[in-house]
Amino acid sequence: MPNDELPDIGLGTWQNTDPERCARSVATALDAGYRHVDTAQHYGNEEHVGDGIAAASVRREEVTVATKVHPEDTGLGYDDVLGAAATSCDRLGVDYLDLLYVHWPVGDYEASETLAALEELVDRGTVGHIGVSNFSVDLLEEARAALDDPLFAHQVEMHPLLQQQELVAYAQEHGHYLVAYSPLARGTVTEIPEIRAVAEKHAISEPQVSLAWLLSKDNVVVIPKSATEAHITANLQAANVELDEEDIAAIDDIDREKRFVERPGAPWLDG
Ligand SMILES: NC(=O)c1ccc[n+]([C@@H]2O[C@H](COP(=O)([O-])OP(=O)(O)OC[C@H]3O[C@@H](n4cnc5c(N)ncnc54)[C@H](OP(=O)(O)O)[C@@H]3O)[C@@H](O)[C@H]2O)c1
Repeated sequence: MPNDELPDIGLGTWQNTDPERCARSVATALDAGYRHVDTAQHYGNEEHVGDGIAAASVRREEVTVATKVHPEDTGLGYDDVLGAAATSCDRLGVDYLDLLYVHWPVGDYEASETLAALEELVDRGTVGHIGVSNFSVDLLEEARAALDDPLFAHQVEMHPLLQQQELVAYAQEHGHYLVAYSPLARGTVTEIPEIRAVAEKHAISEPQVSLAWLLSKDNVVVIPKSATEAHITANLQAANVELDEEDIAAIDDIDREKRFVERPGAPWLDG
């Protein structure tokens, strides 16, 4: 049975491609208490993630396994998506995926066709929940109109330098998760003075501040990537950090913006 709730903190795995290190970091995370692992066909590491899940002392049913179908790797046509899900299950060594995302709404993405394939996979029991990634509000509206099943999660870049107020409000209004990717601003949160000040005040690390700030927003969960054991365990402890209203306001008030993840055709680009 797929898991119906996303834990606050999951493990990201982008660029974690060394087979042994990737498997070890996934197993370390699960043994430390993580219950959500985020991968994608495009990351080229589904097999290693699967090895990590198999090596951990945690039953597969307890883990939310999330992956993504990619417009260029397989295409997003109806049959492409059905085939891609089967391939992901094989590589991950699982017989269902808790969460399958459309990785990017570009290329041959068509809401009616791509999402119909995801619904078929839900009907077959191959996929538990439907997710989309890197969508705009307009694309979310179109997706929700095309779907009979609820939209479960929208995965998008979010951190103190890209606060995504509109997409957070949309997730809260419509009751899906906003899964914050690059929640550590790709490791650069350590350089943000406002984050440093809060970290010093509470004697915690800047990554923990960033994660706790994200988790202070309703419907937001986080998927920090780490292949370093000390970081994996420290990031999980962010779930126990309570920031006060003053800390949250100081971070909310950051008005500089920096986006780290781009690709041609992304919905936020003009034209
Ligand atoms: N849907 C999409 O299009 C999309 C795009 C980007 C990312 N994602 C997902 O989101 C996940 C997270 O995003 P991300 O990988 O871009 O970046 P991130 O999680 O913001 O940052 C990862 C970087 O921070 C470092 N780090 C982690 N914990 C740390 C700590 N406690 N102290 C210091 N440094 C720390 C990591 O190094 P170490 O490994 O050495 O700890 C790594 O260099 C990805 O892995 C992927 O699963 C999805």
